[in-house]
Amino acid sequence: MDDMLKIVGGRPLSGEIKAQGSKNAALPVMAASLLLKDAELELDNVPDLKDISTMADLLSVLGAEVRINNHKISIKVGRDMSSETPAALVQKMRASSLVLGPLLARQGRAVMPLPGGCSIGSRPIDLHLKGLVKMGANIDLLHGAVHATTKGLKGCRIYLDFPSVGATENLLMAAVLAKGDTVLENAAREPEIVNLVDCLRSMGADIEGEGTGVLRIKGKSDLTDASVRIIPDRIAACTYLLAGVITDGHVTIKDVIPQHFDSLLAKLEEASVDVESREGTVTVFPSRKKLKAISMKTLPYPGFPTDVQPQLMSVLCLGQGASVIKESIFESRFLHASELKKMGADIELQGNTAIINGVPKLNCADVVATDLRAGAALVLAGLATEGETIIHSMGHVDRGYECMESALSSLGANVQRLGRRA
Ligand code: UD1
Repeated sequence: MDDMLKIVGGRPLSGEIKAQGSKNAALPVMAASLLLKDAELELDNVPDLKDISTMADLLSVLGAEVRINNHKISIKVGRDMSSETPAALVQKMRASSLVLGPLLARQGRAVMPLPGGCSIGSRPIDLHLKGLVKMGANIDLLHGAVHATTKGLKGCRIYLDFPSVGATENLLMAAVLAKGDTVLENAAREPEIVNLVDCLRSMGADIEGEGTGVLRIKGKSDLTDASVRIIPDRIAACTYLLAGVITDGHVTIKDVIPQHFDSLLAKLEEASVDVESREGTVTVFPSRKKLKAISMKTLPYPGFPTDVQPQLMSVLCLGQGASVIKESIFESRFLHASELKKMGADIELQGNTAIINGVPKLNCADVVATDLRAGAALVLAGLATEGETIIHSMGHVDRGYECMESALSSLGANVQRLGRRA
């Protein structure tokens, strides 16, 4: 049976919830464990999510000993590991490609089928591969898999044509074990990269420049036991904050780093939403009735995150006037728009631009979560809609939100899971 969520919406949410640990920070940190030999990496504040168990399975298949217990993960890595990642796991999740850099750096060889993940554009990994080749890897694409070999990676200067998050993470990890110095220019500046650098430094790596566009890495031959705390999930925090906004509610998110989503807070202020941010806490107050139209464009950090674009679109559907959203990171990230239209939203798509004409209310409907954040956007729309909204394919949403229905119920939402959790 399809995995569905039934929402009886139209009531304001109220209360406070704690942010979960960041999925997108935990995944590369887990992959970094592959740089170790006869050593252990301990992670704290890891969210309990499908993507995390997929990465744990991948590391186990490669030969690591992974133990997960109550948001803590320990990963023990011995001397001998496999260099071949199985297609079944890699195709479940694009972030599996993050094992390529560390695996190649430690083993001199890595075989990885091309990754899967959310259906939001073609999402190539050419920048990852180009950087590895510059460091001295030979790469062949055979039968849909990357075959990478090297006699030893060498530090060098790499300029990324685009500040790709995954390419920055992969090349950073590879550079940590490369011979000599690497300079990574036009690197991604996301908080998740800073968390990865914290982890690598705790292992003994020598890195400078995290949070800026230039990373300088001095290669090491050996790393040691390490531990790291995963940062709060800024995307999940933004989603629950927007659930407060769209329901005209009063919602507080605790244990967050508000600076990590300043771009959303700025846009909410511009839209006349009453929002207050203090050390570690952000609150939205009932203000949807005066929600103004805004224009915004998704950009690499510290710009507005593409992963919050669908959820903000749902909110703007109920604003006053015409809002404009320009998606500049992914080429087909408006799949939620056609589902929102089924609920009565007035959205016009022109290439990578969406024009959203605010409507007074949305209508309940059966809609489909086409990917993780599109699903989150539909949940928000359902929460604001009187009557019964059914969201199909909730499995996508489970990849990124730890027990979303419990979090929403604790804020007073009427949500019920129908069907089996995938
Ligand atoms: C990460 C996040 C994802 C987020 C995205 C952008 C994780 C696990 N996932 O994904 O949630 O939406 O950052 O903030 O952290 N590109 C290329 N060639 C490459 C690499 C990327 O053309 O080699 C393009 C992609 O197709 C995309 C854009 O660059 O259009 C951004 O991709 P990237 O920053 O690499 O995103 P991910 O690391 O995949």
